[in-house]
Amino acid sequence: MEQSFAGKVALITGAASGIGYTVAAHLAERGARVVGVDLNERVHELVAGLPGGGHHGIVKNLTDPAAAGEAIAETVDVVGVPQILVNSAGIALLDPAVDVPADRWQLTLDVNLSGTFYMSQAAGRVMLEAGYGRIINLASQAAVVGLDQHAAYCASKAAVVGLTHVLSLEWARRGVTVNAVSPTVVETPLGKAAWAGEKGEKAKSEIPVGRFAQPEEVAALIAFLAGDEAAMITGSNYLMDGGFTTV
Ligand SMILES: NC(=O)c1ccc[n+]([C@@H]2O[C@H](COP(=O)([O-])OP(=O)(O)OC[C@H]3O[C@@H](n4cnc5c(N)ncnc54)[C@H](O)[C@@H]3O)[C@@H](O)[C@H]2O)c1
Repeated sequence: MEQSFAGKVALITGAASGIGYTVAAHLAERGARVVGVDLNERVHELVAGLPGGGHHGIVKNLTDPAAAGEAIAETVDVVGVPQILVNSAGIALLDPAVDVPADRWQLTLDVNLSGTFYMSQAAGRVMLEAGYGRIINLASQAAVVGLDQHAAYCASKAAVVGLTHVLSLEWARRGVTVNAVSPTVVETPLGKAAWAGEKGEKAKSEIPVGRFAQPEEVAALIAFLAGDEAAMITGSNYLMDGGFTTV
């Protein structure tokens, strides 16, 4: 029987592109009402065009610590208490470690780590009160292995896994699970920009399955973790790397 998200409200950051949009479509196709949060104003039309009805777009810059609380308050007011949060908003700014400028370091941590924390904290408050929640954080294979020119990105994603551990243990007895998903390169605008050309071909050849991941594959794993049946899974970091980090 196909998984159903009927009656569920799913809040998804980074919903205007790539993995976030694909997760939004996957959950909406299975009955969820989606709230998409993104910096990009296109989130309104993209979310409105998803299958089903009652979806809602919110434009926020998640580098603003106040944005998360505002996004959750608007979600509760307009759509209802969210049962699912997927933190997919993220950036990849690549520089050799010796050259990383302070502003690019800080922006990476602000979006990838602090944005994920503040959204989880704000959603966690309403989920804990309701006694139910599923939070899935996009980390990356970069959380567990070093990648050339990824100092800020790797640091931010390793920190997301650390944060996932703490939230999972603090909230485990109260019905809220928190997990991370760590793909290899995914063929989205972010993935294609970071791994274009010869560098990408070399990277693919080093992945045992011989290819990059597709956003739909990541969405299917996230949907599993977002379901009622995943109640016993919390604090995990799921690698989806075609075997890359284990060889
Ligand atoms: N694509 C990959 O290769 C890959 C691999 C592993 C992990 N990830 C992670 O998956 C997540 C999604 O990546 P993607 O490939 O879909 O990227 P993407 O660039 O396609 O989409 C990211 C979305 O986040 C939004 N965003 C960026 N900064 C924001 C901010 N300050 N406030 C609100 N929204 C903001 C963007 O507008 C965009 O819509 C990221 O966290 C990324 O690090 C991606």
